[in-house]
Amino acid sequence: MALTIFILQLAVYILAFPIYLLNFLGLWNRICKIWFPHFLERFAVMYNEQMASKKRELFSNLQEFVGSSGKLSLLEVGCGTGANFKYYPPGCRVTCIDPNPNFEKFLIKSVAENRHVQFERFVVAAGENMHQVADGSVDAVVCTLVLCSVENQEQILQEVCRVLRPGGAFYFMEHVAAERSTWNYFWQQVLHPVWYLVFDGCTLTRETWKALERANFSKLKLQHLQAPLSWELLRPHIYGYAVK
Ligand SMILES: C[S@@+](CC[C@H](N)C(=O)[O-])C[C@H]1O[C@@H](n2cnc3c(N)ncnc32)[C@H](O)[C@@H]1O
Repeated sequence: MALTIFILQLAVYILAFPIYLLNFLGLWNRICKIWFPHFLERFAVMYNEQMASKKRELFSNLQEFVGSSGKLSLLEVGCGTGANFKYYPPGCRVTCIDPNPNFEKFLIKSVAENRHVQFERFVVAAGENMHQVADGSVDAVVCTLVLCSVENQEQILQEVCRVLRPGGAFYFMEHVAAERSTWNYFWQQVLHPVWYLVFDGCTLTRETWKALERANFSKLKLQHLQAPLSWELLRPHIYGYAVK
């Protein structure tokens, strides 16, 4: 099986040779950082349509975590184009973090379309180091389709715990590795190297639930789901929330 995967990976490498060449020349990362937000703007519309009921379910109890200020203070890590804004409760104060500055103009558009949220600021930073956000300062942190792309899941989850107030919640919805005995897992492995390059560091084969189970939350509500998505490779999902 390992040999078959290797041979198929080689075939995919050959097909994607121009991208590997650009990467070798040090040009691909810059192109990707510009291209990816445009791709994500369209992808997020499709994803939100197909996952609408699950997203509504996920965010349905956000209000329970409103702190002493009376307004939910929410930090979205890896916010992308701001595709989650429409699921946030009215008056929710939102800070966004993303390492790619090219998302800002898409975020501004999303803010204009979602007047019910109170947008505070956009911080250009990776979730592994969110020193711009004070300890215990937010009621909720949200990550959707982000933990597949980050360099260090453990470090991000530590940072999430640091910025959350005691009793605050971390909401997640992530695509993950398929079950190992399935064809889906086979194709995830074959396509992983090229997928990673094309989709800005997205890893198809992460068992993200393990990092969440290891993290220091007092309560974890995590469900596995075969998401009703047309992109088969992304169907295995986890979603839920964890309380600090
Ligand atoms: C697939 S997009 C998802 C965007 C958005 N959360 C959504 O659901 O539409 C992944 C996002 O994670 C961001 N990202 C990548 N590495 C990151 C990191 N280390 N910390 C925070 N965000 C990261 C990317 O720039 C991108 O905006």
